[in-house]
Amino acid sequence: MPPGLASVNLPAPAPAPDGLGRAMRLLLLAFLCLASVAPARALEPLGPPGRPASAYPPPDRPVAEIISPRWMSDADRDRANEVGQVARLLGIKPGETVADIGAGAGYYTLRLAPMVGPDGRVLAQDVTPAYLAELQRAVASRRLANVSIGLGEAHDPRLPPGSVDVAILIHMYHEIAQPFGLLDNLGPALTGGGRVGIVDADDIPSRHGTPPALLRCELAAAGYRETGFHTLTGGSGYLAIFAAPAPDARPDPAAIRPCRDEATRARR
Ligand SMILES: C[S@@+](CC[C@H](N)C(=O)[O-])C[C@H]1O[C@@H](n2cnc3c(N)ncnc32)[C@H](O)[C@@H]1O
Repeated sequence: MPPGLASVNLPAPAPAPDGLGRAMRLLLLAFLCLASVAPARALEPLGPPGRPASAYPPPDRPVAEIISPRWMSDADRDRANEVGQVARLLGIKPGETVADIGAGAGYYTLRLAPMVGPDGRVLAQDVTPAYLAELQRAVASRRLANVSIGLGEAHDPRLPPGSVDVAILIHMYHEIAQPFGLLDNLGPALTGGGRVGIVDADDIPSRHGTPPALLRCELAAAGYRETGFHTLTGGSGYLAIFAAPAPDARPDPAAIRPCRDEATRARR
């Protein structure tokens, strides 16, 4: 060895992977790549299909465009205690199953899951797959084991029959393209008529609200009975509460007459 150079003990080179080892590593790499791009679970409906969209008349009013997975900032809603008000007025209890129809980013789902507890369940449903994928990630990161996420259709929430104590439709009613189908196909999912809570702004549909008179008319046309109406504090809109018709009192879809949207006509 030349003077001035220290000796270095180099580790022995690792043996070259044999054919089987190389194949295992490639398989593992492929699995990790797939796992990083694929959603945690494929988005499927939670229940069987009900009556088809073609059975129902369209609403006689504008349908608002779907533009966002949330109504407004979480901080403003938390300040108004929106979920607390709605949960109290609907009497949501631990152990109950709540269907969050049009869950979006899950403002309600994420807060109701701890309220209904380990014996309860939240069925988070929406028609926009990208919003549900975002919600799936939020549910997984919070390790909420009592949330099921399912894809619905504009005329059918696709929920399991007899599974739901309370259904909530929060700041989304004006976006339902097929309200008569959605309400009619929701009925069989509710236990004993259930409680259906609809929160919306008192405004015309094109401005992302539903006038209460129009809401009452459309729910009555689908056979629902109003059991309560409350103005929420903090600018969160109103909560209207309904009971679904008994199975033998569901209207014949062909007999449903759409309601005239007087508010939109008057404000034009
Ligand atoms: C303004 S966001 C409200 C989201 C959430 N409920 C909230 O309060 O923050 C309206 C949501 O309703 C969903 N939506 C619209 N039509 C629907 C339908 N027919 N069935 C289920 N979800 C629907 C949209 O995809 C969107 O996520």
